[in-house]
Amino acid sequence: MRIESVKLAYFSPTGTSRAVAEGIVRGLGHASVDVIDATTPDVRTRALSVSANELLVVAVPVYMGRVPDLLSEWLGAIHADGSPAVCVVVYGNRAYDNALLELRDVLSSRGCVPIAGAAFIGEHSFSDAGAPVALGRPNAEDTLAAVKFGETVADKLRAISSASDAGDLAVPGTHPYGGITKLWDVDFIAVGGNCGGCGLCASVCPTGAVDAADPAKIDIAACVTCCACIKRCPQGARSKKAGPVTEAQTRLRTLYAEPKSPEFFV
Ligand SMILES: Cc1cc2nc3c(=O)[nH]c(=O)nc-3n(C[C@H](O)[C@H](O)[C@H](O)COP(=O)(O)O)c2cc1C
Repeated sequence: MRIESVKLAYFSPTGTSRAVAEGIVRGLGHASVDVIDATTPDVRTRALSVSANELLVVAVPVYMGRVPDLLSEWLGAIHADGSPAVCVVVYGNRAYDNALLELRDVLSSRGCVPIAGAAFIGEHSFSDAGAPVALGRPNAEDTLAAVKFGETVADKLRAISSASDAGDLAVPGTHPYGGITKLWDVDFIAVGGNCGGCGLCASVCPTGAVDAADPAKIDIAACVTCCACIKRCPQGARSKKAGPVTEAQTRLRTLYAEPKSPEFFV
């Protein structure tokens, strides 16, 4: 099947889904790649359209075993025309539960034909040097696996004459999805006196929960606890207050210390 261009769409507050997706796209080796970074709230106000001869690659992190709920409306508004699609979830070494199945289902329901799927491991959003969880993932080995997966997808596309030839894509998971879509409303971010007020935290927040004029002001209901503002603060001025997030971090570190490996479904 001839692919005219690749559309790479990702949501990636702390950059791991993005890194994995970029590796996959390198492996695809296509000259024309259109990148849609849906981490930015503005981008999610515009519907994504994909044509029949475009390959759509979607990469999202796993939140509570599911596709992040804040993406539901945007993913559910995709326009596609039998376009082949690659579904990718990135999780923090606990489990991806039904997230890959959910992503496959939503893309199918919008006119995509999922032809491949993968689950990769990314450093957990709650992880830090003090209590690391999957620290540094995706690592060099994961990136190599992402590139190889992209090459496998390119081989599959060469072997079929249209997306419908690919057959149904089987991925792990069960219906109903279960899990939790309502995230915690938790006041967990401490802002230190060394905050220079640069506003980077507000610009990297995927939900506009941080006030650009006063970065210590956080809309708790909008915050998805992604920790992007903490991890990306150039002054290291933001940290986690002791509470549910640090307790989860300690639990995850203890229970899911054994590194997991990426999985592929082609
Ligand atoms: C609210 C929330 C829920 C999460 N739930 C899970 C989960 O169920 N399983 C898991 O292994 N990791 C979970 N994670 C970790 C992320 O999936 C993981 O760190 C991912 O690599 C983050 O992607 P990003 O760097 O693209 O933002 C969760 C993270 C957050 C913020």
